[in-house]
Amino acid sequence: MIKKAIIPAAGFGTRGLPITKVLPKEMLPIGGRPAIDYIIEEAVNAGIEEILMIVSRNKNIIVDYYDRSLELEAFLVQQNKDHLLNTLKLPKVKIYYMRQLYPKGLGDAVSLAKEFVGNDPFAILLPDEIYLPYKENPLEELMDFYKNYGKNVIALQQVAEAHLKSYGVIEVEKKEKERLYKISDIVEKPKNNPPSNLAVTGRYILKPEIFACLEQTQPGVGSEVQLTDAIKLMLQSEPTYGLEVTSERYDIAKEAEYIKLVQKIYTLQQGEEEE
Ligand code: G1P
Repeated sequence: MIKKAIIPAAGFGTRGLPITKVLPKEMLPIGGRPAIDYIIEEAVNAGIEEILMIVSRNKNIIVDYYDRSLELEAFLVQQNKDHLLNTLKLPKVKIYYMRQLYPKGLGDAVSLAKEFVGNDPFAILLPDEIYLPYKENPLEELMDFYKNYGKNVIALQQVAEAHLKSYGVIEVEKKEKERLYKISDIVEKPKNNPPSNLAVTGRYILKPEIFACLEQTQPGVGSEVQLTDAIKLMLQSEPTYGLEVTSERYDIAKEAEYIKLVQKIYTLQQGEEEE
């Protein structure tokens, strides 16, 4: 089944400036852990065994976070603080890194993973979008669909009309069943007349045919190579579905949503401690 995932984490994080000048948004703290750790946890819980993270020059702090610190471990032992070693446990997954040399867009970042992916279907998780852990795992929902249908599938959520211009938006060919749609078209950040209210929300399972489509994709919105445009091209030959996922989603690049998520996780953690 699907064992490989790509996490594109190379962007400048312009929506989060100035802090993102030195602190990548993927490292913003949530419940004492960096945001990206929730994404990795979601992937691991869904059965992913290998992750390729696409990074850029100022993201070394992410690489450091997923490395052991032998000095710190030795120091904790020496200070009789062994109980804290637990907090340093690394996720059970192989993480590889690759640098995107120039920020040419999400599609370009994904295209770098061609050799890593090989000939099998794979997952993409966008680290801006965090789904509340401890609820339905959205990547697992997509995996379940893939197991049954063997087709490309994208996570969707209904979004208010005013916000659709910030997302990829699908056109529905057919509603297959509750929450499941066959896609006839997809538009990146529609300025007007969005084809539906169903927005692409940062989780994908795609077949490796996407790489040939990415090679043919010219820069689109924002003069960046858009993954959405490559998916549009792929629709000509590969049926692709959208599944409305059910967990609460937080876009941590929006400060209000980041704060809400921090509060939510804090409350959940307090509850666990009291139990
Ligand atoms: C990206 C995708 C877009 C998708 C969104 C979800 O846009 O290009 O299709 O709807 O992620 O978060 P970005 O938010 O990186 O501009």
